[in-house]
Order: sequence, then structure tokens, then C-alpha cells
Amino acid sequence: MTAADHSPTAFRAALRRMFSLALEQLAADGIVTLPPAELAALAEQVRETSEAKFGDYSGTMAMALAKPAGRKPRDMAAAIIERLVAVPGYAELFEPPGDPVGPGFINVRVRDEALAAALAVAVRDVRLGVPPVARPETIVVDYSSPNVAKPMHVGHIRSTVIGDALARLLRFRGHHVITDNHLGDWGTQFGMILWGWKHCRDDEAFAADPTAELGRLYRLVRKVADAKPEELAADPAAAALAARYPHAGREVLAETAKLHEGDPENRALWERFMPVCRAEIDRIYTRLHVSFDHTLGESFFQPFLAGVVDDLVARGLARESRGAIGVFLSGDDAPPLLIRKADGAFLYATTDLATIKWRLEHWRPDRVLYVVDHRQGQHFEQVFETARRWGIEAVQLVHVAFGTVLGDDGRPFKTRAGDTVGLEALLDEGVERAAAIAESGDEARDGLTATDRRRVAEAVGIGAIKYADLSQNRTTDYIFSFDKMLQLTGNTAAYMQYAAARVEGIFAKGGIDRAALREACREVHIPHPRERALALELLRFSEALEDVEADYRPNVLTAYLYDLAGCYSTFYDELPVLKADAADRDSRLALCDLTGRVLRKGLELLGIGTVDRM
Ligand code: ARG
Repeated sequence: MTAADHSPTAFRAALRRMFSLALEQLAADGIVTLPPAELAALAEQVRETSEAKFGDYSGTMAMALAKPAGRKPRDMAAAIIERLVAVPGYAELFEPPGDPVGPGFINVRVRDEALAAALAVAVRDVRLGVPPVARPETIVVDYSSPNVAKPMHVGHIRSTVIGDALARLLRFRGHHVITDNHLGDWGTQFGMILWGWKHCRDDEAFAADPTAELGRLYRLVRKVADAKPEELAADPAAAALAARYPHAGREVLAETAKLHEGDPENRALWERFMPVCRAEIDRIYTRLHVSFDHTLGESFFQPFLAGVVDDLVARGLARESRGAIGVFLSGDDAPPLLIRKADGAFLYATTDLATIKWRLEHWRPDRVLYVVDHRQGQHFEQVFETARRWGIEAVQLVHVAFGTVLGDDGRPFKTRAGDTVGLEALLDEGVERAAAIAESGDEARDGLTATDRRRVAEAVGIGAIKYADLSQNRTTDYIFSFDKMLQLTGNTAAYMQYAAARVEGIFAKGGIDRAALREACREVHIPHPRERALALELLRFSEALEDVEADYRPNVLTAYLYDLAGCYSTFYDELPVLKADAADRDSRLALCDLTGRVLRKGLELLGIGTVDRM
């Protein structure tokens, strides 16, 4: 039998299955008495070990099982081991565990032959040995979703970058993913632009650069409408307007209301502004290499809102309260979730409820992920709870929340002038700074032309911004620092891109036909500990992807790739590859080939570009 006849082996998943069978046997033998669901959950307690001397994986469930059974953890571990080794197929993949370690850890080592065979399969596999999920689901990812007509700022990058990475990754895992950019294209920001258009537009400026003019109107009118003395003091144009139109705030709201009521003039202006707004954000998406299957903004759901409110009222889930209509989620005394204001206007929550219903009817998702700022946590809790009471139960609704982007001073990221930093300017700066680094090279030495350098700068600059975001635990705030994210060492995009390019370099240098190398890869020999460690790390790619999905944390993948690059470095520094003996050379080249592909695939799933040379 050759490697090609095997399907890929995911060792951790196989071990968890075997532990599960062992625990079932333990229950059948009367040693533990726990409901099957709890046993199954305990069988999942298999992690990678911290040090190779403890084996490759460690089962830690003996501790939790010992106490209720009135046994010592080590005895419980011994009882589990006895049954684990008897599970059919165990001996093919794993060494018999030694005595339990510490408070009952069961340490398991993958058999070298099994590892070598799995590696050969992965090298030949277009999916790099990553098995697709057993039960593919339809998953809607709602992300980016900026409020258009306001300039996009650094805060929007998190939703866009995290959402895009999750969508790519879930798709690669084998799920049916539908991405939807739920644009805020119907909100009060249009009231400001409409008012600004009518009172202080600059036609020439609009003709020359419509986006810039709408942006100017938005910023100006916001100050006029808010009428904060300190803001007006710093902006004479805004102050003059505010003096002339003391009721601007109220008038702005009236413009929004007219738009929503279908006023022909405002509607026509909105239709004129929308393409301008879309062009602005599309330019950013192009630069970020982000695209969506659908862009159904809030405006799309307007026709359904009245029906949603009527239905919730008819079912007794919502009722009137001081003229408004709300869903009373936590009793009559707590404030309700408002779905219609006293003046008849619908709210953000109403649109979200209509959107859930529409997506269910049209896409039948198993899960919907909302990649949105953590400050909207309460909104989603209330919307999800209302949806459940409305009878929407089969779909899993998840708020994938993230923290705030901070400046060096630990406060929300702002420019010196106090404005939030525009996203486009930020991307430019990232690329410029990367260019300064890339351009310092010498063509005679590294053979990179000016065009190559530009390409490197774009990939590194944009990649740095994305990677810095993705490598943070998403729920914490993070400090935005160009100096840190553009470093060439440490867990940064540049380092990872360089690591990937370095692997490519070997094949160019050795003039090696990689396709032929893969095709011929039937057996791999990995006798050296460095080879073995790298092989094992490569085969953990699927585990990293599985763990990202478990709680939607792309930083699990960046951490994995960083470890892999480190593992590869040690291997490459200690062992010859191109100059290795014939017996070792092909196996080592196969390890290099798979390392390069896993690094590239991993970065691709994060939405980060790579270059062949840098
Ligand atoms: N437009 C909203 C904002 O910028 C985010 C929308 C998120 N998605 C949703 N279905 N509510 O705050």
C-alpha cells in the first residue's frame, strides 16, 4: 500500500476518539458512573504536551474522573490506559503510554512509522493533510459592516480583518460559508450629509472628488449638530454655521426621518450618494483583498420592518410602552428592547431581527457569526434572546466580539488633532514604512528590482497591519504600533512572510521540481529528533484550524504558524538539506516543501499575502 491510499490522519482527533471509547469501557466496567455526554466531554481533554520528553499528547481526564469514583488519580489513569491500549487501531498509531505522570497525566507518543506515513500523505495532498470537517454547516459571517458616508477608521479594520480570516478558514475546513457585509447605509449619518448638502455644499469640490466632499460635509455637520463649545471653538467654519442655524441638530434628525418616510428629494440624493460611498469603501476592500458574497445593507431590510413589529406584537412578544413598542425581556420593570420609537422610527434592533429572519428564509444557516465590537454585546444578547422567543431556535447566533484599538498612550487610537485615524491613510503609512525597509536593500546583492520591492512593501505593509490585529487575542484591546508590527523578528507578518520566502529559496537554489518531488513522495524517513519534531508540528496544522473554529480566535493560527517557523528554523540550522546524503535529502526536501506550503496556506487563510523573495 502506498501513502496515496491513506486518508489524512489527524492524530489528536484520533486519540480523542480512542479516549472516548476507553472511557465508555470504563463506564461499562462499572469503574465510573457519569452520563455519556460528560464522559464524551472528558475524552476531549487531550492537549499537546509542553515538552517532547512527555510524549506528543497528554490526556488529563483522570483527575476529574478520580474524585467522584473515590480513587487516586494515578490509579484512575492506570485504569484508563489499560482500556485505551485495547481500543482497536490504537497500537497502529500510538506507542503504549508509560506510567501516568504527576497527578495522573497520560502521556502518549505517536509511533514514528505512523508519523512518517501521515507526513507522506500530507505532502501528496492538496489539502496538506487537513481532513475536511465531518459535518459541514452553512455559516453566515456578518462582518466589516461599516456605517457608510462616515470615513472608515481604524476600528473598522478589526471586524474586516477578523471576519475575513474566519470566513476563509471555515471555508477551507469544508463549511458552506456565506459572507455578508451588513452596511450601515440608512442611519443618521445620512441626515447630516443631506442637511450639509442643502446648506453648505461645495459643487466644485463634489465634482472633483465626491468622496472627499461628502466626508467634509459629514465631519462639518456633525460638529454643527452636536454644538459642543470646545469643538466649535477649534473650527471657525463649523462655528459660523452653528451660529447661523441654531436648530441644526433637530433639522438633521428631520432630514433622516424624511429619507425614511420616502421623501422623493432625499431619496434621490441618497441614491446619488450611495455609489460614492460604496466606491470609497470598495477601494479599501480591494487593497485589503477582502470581498463579500453579499452586501445587503440596512436599507435592504426596510420593507420588512413594519411586518416584524406587527408580528412580534401579534404574538404577544412586544407591546406598547409610552408610545413606543418594545420587547420586555426581563420583566415589566426593566427597560425593554425598543423596536419602534414613539415617532414611528424603527431601530437598529428591528433591522437586525428582520435580517435574521430573511437570512433564515433564504440561506438556511446553521450558524450566524456577527463579528462586531464588544461594546455591542448587550445589543446582540437582546436581539438573540428576542429571536429565540420568536421561535428562531435551530440556528446558532454568535457575537464574535473584539476589543478596541488603542494608541501608544493606551487611549482609543486618534491622530494628534484628536480625529480618529482614517483607514486609508493608515494603510498608506504601513506600506510607506515597509517600503522604506524594503528599499534599503541592494539589487546587486539580493536581486530584487524596484518593482519587486514595491510588491514586497505592499504585501508587508498591509500584511503587518492585518497580522498585528489577528495575532492578538480578539477580546482584548490592543495597542496599534507601526514600530512593533513592522519588526522583522518576533511574531510579525514580516517575519512569517520572510520565513515562507526562505523556504521557497531552497527550491530555487537547488533547482528542484517540487511537483515531481511531491509526486514521488511515497515514504519519508524522519529518524532525527529535529525531523520528527517538524513532521509532528506540520501535522498539527489541522488541529490549529480546529481550535480557531472552536472559539473563533485567529490568534491560535498565528501562534501555530510562529511555532512552525521556529521549529523549521531549528531543523534547517542543524541539518543539511540540499547537501544531505541521498538517503536523507528527499525526506528533508519533503519536510521543507510541506513547511512552505503550510506557512503560505496559513497566511492565505489569514488573508495575508506572501512573496517568493524578499
Ligand atoms: N453598522 C454597525 C456599526 O458600525 C455594525 C453592524 C454589525 N452587524 C449587524 N448585523 N448588526 O456599528
